[in-house]
Amino acid sequence: MTRSAGGPAWNRRHLLGLEGLSADELACVLDTAESFKEVSTRSVKKVPALRGRVVVNLFYEPSTRTRVSFALAATRLSADVVDFAASTSSARKGETLRDTARNIEAMGVDIVVVRHSAPGAADHLARVLDASVVNAGDGAHEHPTQGLLDVFTIREALGRVQGLRVAIVGDIAHSRVARSNIWGLRTLGAEVVLVGPSTLVPAAFREMGCEVSHSLDDVLPEVDVINMLRIQQERLLAAPFPSLREYTRLFGLTARRMARARPEVIVMHPGPMNRGVEIAPDVADGPRSVILRQVANGLAVRMAVLYLVAGGRPAAREADPRRAAAPRGEGREVLRGAAARTGGAR
Ligand code: NCD
Repeated sequence: MTRSAGGPAWNRRHLLGLEGLSADELACVLDTAESFKEVSTRSVKKVPALRGRVVVNLFYEPSTRTRVSFALAATRLSADVVDFAASTSSARKGETLRDTARNIEAMGVDIVVVRHSAPGAADHLARVLDASVVNAGDGAHEHPTQGLLDVFTIREALGRVQGLRVAIVGDIAHSRVARSNIWGLRTLGAEVVLVGPSTLVPAAFREMGCEVSHSLDDVLPEVDVINMLRIQQERLLAAPFPSLREYTRLFGLTARRMARARPEVIVMHPGPMNRGVEIAPDVADGPRSVILRQVANGLAVRMAVLYLVAGGRPAAREADPRRAAAPRGEGREVLRGAAARTGGAR
């Protein structure tokens, strides 16, 4: 997927997963996102980086945060955004993903953001489309922008990622969020400990460089970050534990349990939360929670991803901050900052 030789740390056309991304590439996205975060604090929250480009949100699975976040990110970059919901489309009439995507592409689309229940759906589209493809979650495989926004939030809250100890708790087996977090965190030098019942945390995850524990109480006192995951009921084929009450008793993050954690620990959750199951409401809304910060950061991270995957293509010259006509002069310096950090090869 190399586009420009000797260029910046980022020269990929697609973002399909965090597996295989180098520490430099991850840092490039995080640094670019930091530049874009500043845009969200302005009264005019727009930069002209993707003016004239078309982004399509192709969502075959329910989504609240991710879908709105991608749409808003594209809008803030001045792209035209089309939101496609599979439930009201010809997918219901038997059209394949490939045909739907190729037809949409024929209308002149530059970036396809796809969420699908099949692992590998984003890779498949990247092979059949000329457009850039961004994976917004493919089955239990990967959810790279969630992984990136989680790492971004950790770096922002604790000042670093390297050397931190991160617990990811819950339904690891069915979680694309866990997989993307593991790749990102391990590459950036964090230790990852996966916590949950053995039915939801298979020992095979040790091969990804993680520790595995079946006791949240044992792990809590020694971690810097606790990332709580939802039980993915829709992906379960059989009951993985005797009852939800039993699960909550052993793995639910309650205020009482939080008393065992380090005072500076941060609590994360990708959403949607099942309050009272994996996390108690007073912890979710408590002083150590960064859950809404994750959502806010997701916007900046997705702006960075859309900007970077669109970069280096011929039309990307329009996105050159030195050429782009920023409204009221806004947006120039943030893009110059982002371009400088990424090697200025836009
Ligand atoms: C996650 C997802 O869809 O993978 N949510 C999200 O994108 N924020 C996690 C989940 O569904 O539990």
